[in-house]
Amino acid sequence: MSATTSTSLKEALAHACTDIEATIDALLPMVPGDESILLEAMRYAALGGGKRLRGFLAVEVASLFGADRRAALRVAASVELLHAYSLVHDDLPSMDDDDLRRGRPSTHRQFDEAIAILAGDALQTRAFEILLEDETSSDATIRSNLALALARASGAAGMVGGQVIDIRGEGRALPLDEVRRLHALKTGALIRYAAESGAILAGVTDDRRDAIVSYGQNLGTAFQVADDVLDTTASAEELGKTAGKDEASGKSTYVSLLGIDGARAEARRLSDQAREALSSFGAQAAALRALADYVVERRN
Ligand code: IPE
Ligand code: IPE
Ligand code: MG
Ligand code: MG
Ligand code: MG
Repeated sequence: MSATTSTSLKEALAHACTDIEATIDALLPMVPGDESILLEAMRYAALGGGKRLRGFLAVEVASLFGADRRAALRVAASVELLHAYSLVHDDLPSMDDDDLRRGRPSTHRQFDEAIAILAGDALQTRAFEILLEDETSSDATIRSNLALALARASGAAGMVGGQVIDIRGEGRALPLDEVRRLHALKTGALIRYAAESGAILAGVTDDRRDAIVSYGQNLGTAFQVADDVLDTTASAEELGKTAGKDEASGKSTYVSLLGIDGARAEARRLSDQAREALSSFGAQAAALRALADYVVERRN
């Protein structure tokens, strides 16, 4: 990645990040009453940092296809809420049992387990609610297509299915093909959706949408392979989450199967494939191309 591209990507990411966080802030207002602790926990989980990669993808693809930015920010906020829910549940004692997330105590440590579970539940339903509200699109078919795509990406055939394979695989050496499937489901599906959501919002249904789906799929899997590498090569300070967790839990990862160099090579191959999928787009897709490099070169 050239220095210029990298600088402009960082600027575009930072700009999107600010707007996405302001949108999330407005979409999760505090409420009075006993349930206010739920909103506090939801806001804690959703507004406590994070790279906003999924939200950025939604905004960037929507802009590539000329969709309204305010609407795109709602779609971006929605996918970030869904993602925040997945992290809250992923960190629970019954799952990865992680005390640190985004440089702070994970939600069940800051509140308690019951509130963390419920905050995750409510973040998930809020994500769908936002997509289905009129402000997201005046076209009801577009709204329902967004909700359908998110449901498919995040449910049993997507993220949650992948989490089951991940948890059930602890202490067993899964074959490479199964780890590939695991990564495509637990992380790839939501990242793929994030990219696709920008095309759905813009009403794009032709082969440009297929190209974006292929980009998102490869980018998403590359992202998780890089996460596996970072788990063994980066510090908790850099990551803002516990390092060395995968090996300690006996997870099957690209690193456990291929070694660090093998995993890095695989991440690079997937990132190149993601770039390749954008070959029919011009200079307007520069940030998406740079993002393919960023996901495998990042340090957190
Ligand atoms: C962490 O995702 C969970 C994985 C799928 C690897 P991110 O690394 O995107 O987490 P945040 O949102 O930046 O904290
Ligand atoms: C999490 O994968 C994927 C999710 C669906 C949340 P990891 O368990 O590797 O994510 P981190 O490393 O805790 O962020
Ligand atoms: Mg996990
Ligand atoms: Mg985890
Ligand atoms: Mg990880």
